[in-house]
Amino acid sequence: MKSAGIRGAGYAIPSQKISNDDFSKMGLETSDEWIVARTGIKTRYIADENTTSATLAEAAARKAIQNAGLTRTEIDMVICATTSPEYPLFPSNACLLQHRLNLRQVPSFDLSAACSGFSYALTTGAQFIATGAAKNILVVASDCLSKFVDWQDRSICVLFGDGAGAIVLSETAQPGLSYSRLYSDGGHGNILCVPPDKTPPHIVMNGKAVFKVAVENVIPAIEEALSQTQITGESLTWFIPHQANIRIIQMIAQKVGIPEEKVLLNIAELGNTSAASIPIAIAQAAETGKFKPGDTILMAGFGAGFTWGINVLQWT
Ligand code: COA
Repeated sequence: MKSAGIRGAGYAIPSQKISNDDFSKMGLETSDEWIVARTGIKTRYIADENTTSATLAEAAARKAIQNAGLTRTEIDMVICATTSPEYPLFPSNACLLQHRLNLRQVPSFDLSAACSGFSYALTTGAQFIATGAAKNILVVASDCLSKFVDWQDRSICVLFGDGAGAIVLSETAQPGLSYSRLYSDGGHGNILCVPPDKTPPHIVMNGKAVFKVAVENVIPAIEEALSQTQITGESLTWFIPHQANIRIIQMIAQKVGIPEEKVLLNIAELGNTSAASIPIAIAQAAETGKFKPGDTILMAGFGAGFTWGINVLQWT
């Protein structure tokens, strides 16, 4: 079995910035104090009508391939995690990327696991590397959930921002990805969903239930990962949780014994960028030189479905 590591990363966010105060100016009964205290979010970036999850994915992917030091002909597969693709049904974002990046006629497919999308895509990509079926896989996570929120619903619209994160996952002689485990419980599908009878389609959420289900499931999943990989909250180098709510993140980190300074965050600036939040954090940390070879990184994705997944990776 061959090992998979991250060879390059990139991210893209749209240009339109919305601050918490902007919501009050738009006539919503809310405040910067409420949003910051309950969620940790200060700003988010929103796609305009010409920007889609595929255009953001393309920008992120170009940077990831460049940072990996590869050329477009060396990419063997495209996996795009998204629940807000440019075309509602088909073609997939991954096929749009294959064409727009002028890649070879490689396998390309989208994967739907909501905010856990990157955990699912990373884990899936690693299987193709492990078997030797692919050497370099473009794994992209991209969402524009701002296109699926009711802008009059203050409990939803303040939470989400748009963005894309991409990595090139490559075969490596070093340890790389050492642990991946994915989970789901469709019995919680209704607590965070886009109901089929809503026109236009928009997100409906029971925030308190989502909070509880996330915390109750992610904590034991991380404990299992720490036990299996024989690392501790103290011994790992970085923790990258899905950026849904600062209070969820703090509760999880505290319960599993991960010190605050090891937690990588982008939620204050970007809001909840859904599947993209973890790879954006990876790309930001790589760009600023935070990661050193051999760093142990624990990632925890969670989101609608309900889905969640844990990955442990050594930076290569
Ligand atoms: N500004 C001001 N007040 C708001 C508000 C806003 N943006 N959004 C909701 N409220 C109000 C509610 O209407 C409610 O008012 P009421 O008491 O008069 O009915 C009050 O605040 C409390 O609402 P509640 O939903 O109980 O708040 P909460 O403490 O549960 O916080 C969330 C709401 C959404 C921030 C919180 O539940 C949460 O973050 N859940 C997880 C969501 C998530 O992570 N989703 C993505 C998962 S991938």
